[in-house]
Amino acid sequence: MEAKLINFKEIGNPSTGILIAIEQMKEVPFEIKRVYYLFDCHIRRGFHAHKKLKQVAIAINGSCKILLDDGTNKEIVLLNKKNQGLFIEGGTWREMYDFSADCVLMVIADSLYDEQDYIRDYQEFINFYRKS
Ligand code: TYD
Repeated sequence: MEAKLINFKEIGNPSTGILIAIEQMKEVPFEIKRVYYLFDCHIRRGFHAHKKLKQVAIAINGSCKILLDDGTNKEIVLLNKKNQGLFIEGGTWREMYDFSADCVLMVIADSLYDEQDYIRDYQEFINFYRKS
């Protein structure tokens, strides 16, 4: 698998301040239904896949790592840029870890929260998604 990183356009510069705008179907390839963010994270999190949910994760402050697993291949992505987002499609197991103390991880998603869309059991995920 190949991590899909999106580079956002910066408006301004460090001497005046920088602004990044994210619009649906433009900077992110879906309609935006939900935004949430995590901070003060000290433990490895995630340990789930989504069946359909599409997301873009952005470390808007600090850094963290995200392990992506499509059932066949695994990839570790370091998120440490305010102007970069990681697109995560359905069918991807993810674990987030190595959060810096100042990490704020913002996630933009194409659906409202729905526990029915989660697969929280790794073996169940593998049974669904391992490519033969
Ligand atoms: P979860 O997605 O399991 O977090 P992580 O993958 O970061 O470990 O969600 C943690 C808790 O927060 C869980 O009880 C569901 C709740 N939650 C919401 O209520 N709304 C949301 O949009 C999200 C993402 C989670």
